[in-house]
Amino acid sequence: MYDSLTGNVRRFAQQVAGEAGAKAPLSARLDAPEGPFLLLTYTFGTGDVPGSTRAFLDRHGPLLRGVVASGSYHWGVNFARAADVIAAEYGVPVVARINKGGTAADRAQVVAWLRDRPIEAPSSPSSSLPVARRHPWNPGSN
Ligand SMILES: Cc1cc2nc3c(=O)[nH]c(=O)nc-3n(C[C@H](O)[C@H](O)[C@H](O)COP(=O)(O)O)c2cc1C
Repeated sequence: MYDSLTGNVRRFAQQVAGEAGAKAPLSARLDAPEGPFLLLTYTFGTGDVPGSTRAFLDRHGPLLRGVVASGSYHWGVNFARAADVIAAEYGVPVVARINKGGTAADRAQVVAWLRDRPIEAPSSPSSSLPVARRHPWNPGSN
């Protein structure tokens, strides 16, 4: 899942999905996650989490498994701080902090995390998925 205002995170998420052999990532502004997900977002205000990301997490936070945030080095101590804020609030790892649209090394870091992490099934009682599957990513259906 990604949230993006000017396109840096969207492009990064699409590139990561391509390199990981996963389906196209879903927009946090338009779509709901189909299961546990990695969130890629950006930093806004002064080291803040964007309102659209907040609204998404208010609804789907229990399925969050890790976070990537973009920012700009220009912002100094507040660089990509949205990742740290979200990680602390939801108890998930910061998978990467990227400058603008990120680098090949950033993409490799995120792809490696997607490949290594164990995924649990959604915690919804209606779910019939097994609980100990390993799957690279479940970014959605389109
Ligand atoms: C109004 C505004 C505030 C921003 N505040 C921060 C900030 O506090 N820390 C940071 O690292 N980047 C900050 N940025 C930079 C964006 O997070 C960065 O450009 C990011 O790549 C945007 O992602 P997007 O193109 O997917 O929307 C800010 C950008 C704007 C326009």
